[in-house]
Amino acid sequence: MNWKKVISIVLIGVLGLMCMAACRAAAGTSEESQVPDTSTAAQENADNEVTEDESSGSMIVVYYSWSENTKSIAKRIAETTGADIYEIRTVKAYPKDGYETSDIAQEERRTGNLPEIVDDLPDLKEYNTVIIGGPIWNAYVSTPLARYLELTDLSEKTVIPFSTSQGSGQSSYLKDFQERVRTAERIGEYKDIQFPANYSSDTFSDEEIDEMLAPWIESNSLVSKSVSGKEVLLNSGYKMPVIGLGTWTQDDKTVEMSVYEAIKDGYRLIDTAQYYGNETGVGNGVRKAIDEGIVKREDVFVTTKVMPGNYDRAYQSIDESLARLGFDYIDLMLVHQSGSGDEEVYKALCQGVADGKIRSIGISNYYTADEVERVTDGADIKPAVIQNENHLYYQNTELQEYVKQYGTVIESWYPFGGRGHTSESFNNEVIVELAEKYNKTSAQIILRWQVQAGYIAIPGSSDPNHIAENYDIFDFELSEEDMQCINNLNRMERYEIW
Ligand SMILES: Cc1cc2nc3c(=O)[nH]c(=O)nc-3n(C[C@H](O)[C@H](O)[C@H](O)COP(=O)(O)O)c2cc1C
Repeated sequence: MNWKKVISIVLIGVLGLMCMAACRAAAGTSEESQVPDTSTAAQENADNEVTEDESSGSMIVVYYSWSENTKSIAKRIAETTGADIYEIRTVKAYPKDGYETSDIAQEERRTGNLPEIVDDLPDLKEYNTVIIGGPIWNAYVSTPLARYLELTDLSEKTVIPFSTSQGSGQSSYLKDFQERVRTAERIGEYKDIQFPANYSSDTFSDEEIDEMLAPWIESNSLVSKSVSGKEVLLNSGYKMPVIGLGTWTQDDKTVEMSVYEAIKDGYRLIDTAQYYGNETGVGNGVRKAIDEGIVKREDVFVTTKVMPGNYDRAYQSIDESLARLGFDYIDLMLVHQSGSGDEEVYKALCQGVADGKIRSIGISNYYTADEVERVTDGADIKPAVIQNENHLYYQNTELQEYVKQYGTVIESWYPFGGRGHTSESFNNEVIVELAEKYNKTSAQIILRWQVQAGYIAIPGSSDPNHIAENYDIFDFELSEEDMQCINNLNRMERYEIW
């Protein structure tokens, strides 16, 4: 089916009719099986996809898809950026034949009589960025999407358009789209993904889609925006929450309550280590929340670390951590710090992944590219996470940039500067000013900066008020200028020697 041809031929009459007839014959079989029933199935799908619990806070992908091509792209965008997702559905399904649908759509467009869509549109209040996609129809925005745009107030939103097509009509699509979202605060860079004729929506693998989308995601800064949601996608394929509870210095009894409180407040990431001596308490806290039906095991992401005293028996220590935690897998396990034999420890963690005991692995307290390369040399898995001292006065952006090539995320212990330095961070003029401006506490400004800067942060506390306060950072966003003001506080000053 060649749509470019179809469109021009439709315009010049008789010849067009002949082509339509020929194309209709070609289209019939390939499209029939792909056309979704836009009523119930799609509705159930969308219901599953947008739930309050999963809401990421700042980005949503809204799309219309007639034969699932756009759907496959939309889903992947949501997966890689952590955005929420919503599918526009028409009240009345279009015919399964592409050319009948084309006739109807052209009539809808000509008369301005746009199709009715299912009335459960997402409330955009909590989103700053709305990524909007749909198929190109006769060189324009598809009429169901046009209807959505007519019904939706996008003022104050950044709107990022994408489409899928068979290769024609992109510039007129974009023009049409821009006219329909005129009230948006900003329209980001547009991307069209071209599907071959006689396509099917699984034409492209996830890797191929990622490759096609990467420059667009990068130019619209969708990845850094995605960490303003609650999770980030690791290079291991698992999602990791961006705010977690640090548990250093808490004993088993204390930590059990802190973990339980944190989970009740919404935390889904808990950080411990063999060295902290509290893995048992962490496991108990998680189990208490599971027993009360607050979460399931798979909802909580638990990190632990191999301590230097175990470097000569690292693999065995994975089993010991599992036993203390009382889990059958560890979400993330790190080499605690550099030390003799740490390359072998990292390899033992790789083995732990191969054996299904660990899902993601990483390192902690490695501050330079050379150190990262040394400890991971010869291993077949790149670190998903590097957990380091990282705060206002020590922002290791050089390392962050370096490990981007591996898709590695930096996680900050001591996100406030650590014991003895917290009040200096909280009372910093810039932070105090921003706290007033955003009506938040200094701690919340710093943590918000951490996640917007692309870091995962694990503030430690056993005080229920602080635990709750530290998690309450998903209802606001620091502007780019304010982010820059905080970036400027960096003086590459570390306080610990790990
Ligand atoms: C009514 C209709 C009109 C279309 N018009 C065009 C077009 O102008 N240019 C193009 O390249 N593809 C056109 N196509 C092909 C679709 O844009 C393309 O297959 C798209 O990926 C389908 O997305 P979907 O599966 O999400 O509906 C058209 C398809 C239909 C059904």
